[in-house]
Amino acid sequence: MTKKLFVKTYGCQMNVHDGERMAELLAGQGYEATDKAEEADMVLLNTCHIREKAAEKVYSDIGRLKPLRAAKPDLRIAVAGCVAQAEGEEILARAPIVDLVVGPQSYHTLPALMARVDAGEKVVETEFPAEDKFAHLPPRKLRAPTAFLTVQEGCDKFCAFCVVPYTRGAEVSRPAQRILTEARGLVEQGVREITLLGQNVNAWHGAEGGLAALVRDLAGIDGLDRIRYTTSHPNDMDDALIAAHGEEPKLMPFLHLPVQSGSDRILKAMNRKHRAEDYLRLVERLRAAQPDLVLSSDFIVGFPGETEEDFQATLALIEAVGFGSAFSFTYSPRPGTPAAERTGVPEPEAHDRLLRLQALITRQQRETQKAMVGRILPVLFEKPGRMPGQMTGKSGHLMAVAVTAPDDLRGQIRPVRVTAALTNSLGGELAS
Ligand code: SAH
Ligand code: SF4
Ligand code: F3S
Repeated sequence: MTKKLFVKTYGCQMNVHDGERMAELLAGQGYEATDKAEEADMVLLNTCHIREKAAEKVYSDIGRLKPLRAAKPDLRIAVAGCVAQAEGEEILARAPIVDLVVGPQSYHTLPALMARVDAGEKVVETEFPAEDKFAHLPPRKLRAPTAFLTVQEGCDKFCAFCVVPYTRGAEVSRPAQRILTEARGLVEQGVREITLLGQNVNAWHGAEGGLAALVRDLAGIDGLDRIRYTTSHPNDMDDALIAAHGEEPKLMPFLHLPVQSGSDRILKAMNRKHRAEDYLRLVERLRAAQPDLVLSSDFIVGFPGETEEDFQATLALIEAVGFGSAFSFTYSPRPGTPAAERTGVPEPEAHDRLLRLQALITRQQRETQKAMVGRILPVLFEKPGRMPGQMTGKSGHLMAVAVTAPDDLRGQIRPVRVTAALTNSLGGELAS
């Protein structure tokens, strides 16, 4: 008899990808995915620790599982992801109905861990084994024309606010050959676009030449048409990678490049090891290599010590760059990080800055979208759109484009004339 698995994932793309891999692994154990927690035999909460709100969500989720567990005593409850890594045993103490806690570096051992749970044990596994967990996972089964491929994990940067170096461990790069083999396998299954994933993806050093060389090697795979990578750190954008944005047509003209702040004083306090000016010069060089590049970023406002003047410097940086989109957050103190010891900006003030920053970003996002109207852009079609007879896909700039088109265009790249710019998407028509 097949059992049902319900997975709920929070956090970054890496975590989303981990969630998919865990579901694939458990499929081999007879667990079929369901999107209804009520019918599940196992619930897997794949958690994020990056901000307090995200981290606390797991406990309210577990609370909501209590009636389910009461009705179905055999229900398995597992907590994975970065809260699992950060809190380990504490989770069992705070939420005794949890059966299994498994960190992001050890989930490839889930079948063995589940066997221990089945034998009546409460299990906590938060080791950082030296092996490549991906080598222990079943081959991917994909139905979409786009896929993630993890090339690097962990972070050695230790930004003063960030838990990632603690939850994901030290930087590790997967070897180029494994990545290329996995990429070829994905392309054989119909994948046309691969997004290389890493907490610090451009620090990848799995072979001579760094990420630029890997991108070039991947570009040599027939049938793979689009390459992206995320998330990058400004200090790891080397000359070769910048040049690749101009030279490698398969490398898409979109880059997520978090800067966090535009104030040198705050960047220093954040331990970012770059100044605002360094970021602006970098953007200039990237745009010289690829004039069509659309940039996005991450910002934290209300970091301890941030004055209105510091915040104005952030707005000035945003004005100077012109972003296509951005994620922005008020600072959230995280246990164990250096900044957690410092006094933050009062919440109402931080919130006010966030709204002002977001208003500016929204304006820039609209301008970027509007500038696409009238252009003919290649779109990779992914799925039916919201309206009948519609298909949606992504432009090279990672913008959603909805087009009246037959559904057999799924997985194909076609030129689209952009006719309308909506808030979060573009509208267009097939150009040929
Ligand atoms: N590796 C990436 C992203 C890590 S987390 C990078 O280097 O940029 C994603 C984003 O969450 C960060 O870029 C940052 O803007 C935000 N973030 C991280 N820690 C935070 C904290 N303590 N409070 C608020 N936002 C935070
Ligand atoms: Fe966190 Fe900084 Fe590492 Fe990004 S570079 S994951 S923000 S410590
Ligand atoms: Fe969250 Fe962990 Fe990703 S803390 S953002 S799930 S690396």
